[in-house]
Amino acid sequence: MRSHYCGDVNESLIEQTVKVAGWMHRRRDHGGVIFIDLRDREGLVQIVCNPEDAESFAVAEKVRSEYVLQIEGVVNPRPAGSENTDLKSGKIEIIAKRVTILNSSETPPFPLTEQAEVNEDIRLRHRYIDLRRPEMLQKLRFRSQIIRQLRQYLDNHGFMDIETPILTKATPEGARDYLVPSRTHPGDFFALPQSPQLFKQLLMVAGMDRYYQVVRCFRDEDLRADRQPEFTQLDIETSFVEEEDLMQLMEEMIRDLFANVLEQPLPNPFPRMTYADAMDRYGSDKPDLRIPLELVDVSDLMQGVDFKVFSAPANDENGRVAALRLPGGNSLSRKEIDDYTKFVSIYGAKGLAYIKVNDLAAGREGLQSPILKFLPDNVVDAILQRTAAETGDLVFFGADKASVVNESLGALRVKIGHDLDMVEHGWRPLWVVEFPMFEWDDKTQRWYALHHPFTAPRESDIDLLSNDPGKCLSRAYDMVLNGTELGGGSIRIHKTDVQQKVFEMLGIPAEEAEEKFGFLLQALKYGCPPHGGLAFGLDRLAMLMTGSASIRDVMAFPKTQSAACLLTNAPSHVSDEQLKELNIRLRRVPTA
Ligand code: AMO
Ligand code: AMP
Repeated sequence: MRSHYCGDVNESLIEQTVKVAGWMHRRRDHGGVIFIDLRDREGLVQIVCNPEDAESFAVAEKVRSEYVLQIEGVVNPRPAGSENTDLKSGKIEIIAKRVTILNSSETPPFPLTEQAEVNEDIRLRHRYIDLRRPEMLQKLRFRSQIIRQLRQYLDNHGFMDIETPILTKATPEGARDYLVPSRTHPGDFFALPQSPQLFKQLLMVAGMDRYYQVVRCFRDEDLRADRQPEFTQLDIETSFVEEEDLMQLMEEMIRDLFANVLEQPLPNPFPRMTYADAMDRYGSDKPDLRIPLELVDVSDLMQGVDFKVFSAPANDENGRVAALRLPGGNSLSRKEIDDYTKFVSIYGAKGLAYIKVNDLAAGREGLQSPILKFLPDNVVDAILQRTAAETGDLVFFGADKASVVNESLGALRVKIGHDLDMVEHGWRPLWVVEFPMFEWDDKTQRWYALHHPFTAPRESDIDLLSNDPGKCLSRAYDMVLNGTELGGGSIRIHKTDVQQKVFEMLGIPAEEAEEKFGFLLQALKYGCPPHGGLAFGLDRLAMLMTGSASIRDVMAFPKTQSAACLLTNAPSHVSDEQLKELNIRLRRVPTA
């Protein structure tokens, strides 16, 4: 139907007859001549319809926005002065000889020609139109390029692309499962995979050695800007490796990707930081290193002060008192400080104490703070020294359970970094390593796996598994980029007894472990090689690389914050017959 893409018609085709096809982007009537901007995947081209060519002119008069047209015509240079340097085809135009309407279009629900802010729900409901916008097209094209590049790297390094089941058994990655009822096994359910974790480990037992897959994962969890209920992982597993081998290979792959697709260099090697260090200095296991602010621990200084709010957590082994110095921060107004206090309360902080350093040389007189009266001179001096506070600065304080202090001051650090325009440009990747194996949950009074239950403990920490689980470190690693967790993985447990021990620690009784993971425990007994791997969040990677604010922008058909698809109206009711066939009776018939 066409000889060229619209965007590819250029001055090399002058005087030639070409056939193009696409959507009517814009039409202008100029004193009897009709100009049409025709658009396809590759861009725009200007079509000129002259009244002398009565037949095509008559058709051109009828066309409206987003009509689908086929146009045959001759390529001409644009008259001097009317070139458009913004367009690849900007030096030429096509003089129409034949205009054919291939299809009409209703008026689109939002214009594609303007940069108007369109409500996201409307965009999602008509995603097929939204994706026609060059910005969206560009993002999907970029995403495809990223995937191609990553595949190429892995193919070149001996990885095999192997598919794993979607209808499967629950894999614990910390979210709720999406369940699928089985018709042939009444009362039983498949779970959609939260990740192919167990299958990729079984592929290592099977001797595949190097596996990868671009794979859809499903997690029923609370959604955020960087989370979707179904998302894509680049999932990787290799045999006979240690952390070092894997981390080197993976960062080389990501460096290659950025060099080839963005032409931007990443550091070699990526810096590494222990989990403990990351929490201590950034209050987060995915620190955004572009923000030059750090938490400073002052717990030891507060143990003896006369302010319960500080001394209690300072003397509690699960508590923490930390400071965050904001250079130049003493210009913050009362209202701004109140707003930040409100902000940290989202994370459970009960307050946000501060000291404004108006004049460092003036001692106490030079400070301004609601907590100064509780702090003796030596403590004040030590705080100022440790935080390296200078005249003009402000020091915030958080005191509570360590988890609350880390979350709230960690989030405050990022917020202030953005509010005060302190975010440095560029890419700051890092590896976070030495994660604890387990995390204690007060509510349920049990240990949880910080990564997942198949992650190996450090060789030297095996005894701690039962003696002091909270201190047991794992062989997990996360790749973090600009404050986003891009990927995570670990060296796995490859011995049955260690795996059983970990299940035990997690409070999973032997029968339950057998019922849920019997196939894995069995497989580990048949010559399972040492192995490890990692999975990247491809959507997050594409989001960062395209500078998008949400992963929805790099997914063709994403779901909303409430995990619904506005385009198809999924999830939706099913017929009584279907339910009956599946042996399902709804407990409460939802009102339509
Ligand atoms: P993990 O659970 O850390 O590890 O997931 C790996 C990466 O997947 C991305 N990701 C998500 N992206 C979008 N929406 C979500 N809801 C979502 N959840 C996770 C993140 C994350 O870093 N089986 C292990 C990997 C392994 O051990 O090899 C796993 O799934 O970028
Ligand atoms: P109060 O004595 O409750 O008026 O608190 C004095 C100051 O300490 C105020 O600036 C509060 O915001 C702050 N504050 C109270 N609780 C905490 C806390 N848990 N962490 C940090 N600051 C706090």
